[in-house]
Amino acid sequence: MEQELKELFSEAKAAMKKAYAPYSRFTVGAAILTAEGNIFKGCNVENASLGLTSCAERNAIFSAVQQEGKEMKLKAVAIACDNQSGVSPCGACRQVIKEFSDKETVVIYYFNGNFQTKKIAELLPDSFAFES
Ligand code: THU
Repeated sequence: MEQELKELFSEAKAAMKKAYAPYSRFTVGAAILTAEGNIFKGCNVENASLGLTSCAERNAIFSAVQQEGKEMKLKAVAIACDNQSGVSPCGACRQVIKEFSDKETVVIYYFNGNFQTKKIAELLPDSFAFES
């Protein structure tokens, strides 16, 4: 894995330390690199009403849009967790990553005993797009 992505993964690990996960105890951190060259981080934030839980990836991406605006594009997304088996991004987060990705965007995470580096088309084939 190239150095820039390794550093992004370290940022995701750091973000994970802020997770609020008293219910699942599954702490997740995400760090994203935008096309503008900024890094934004997010962690999962759970709630007693479990369905209100917000994933690390979406929290990081929504923060980036709020800071950079609607043109925000993702160059890379790194996801880390505190669990030996790793974490693969959930379906909802894949759809949100896709919204702000292009063909070059890479998603990295540790899963199945290896670091995975994937494009969003591999993670979410035939994804939904809204045509008005
Ligand atoms: N979680 C994430 O933050 N990202 C994912 O892609 C998968 C799941 C969180 C949500 C919840 O707080 C915990 O992991 C267990 O599902």
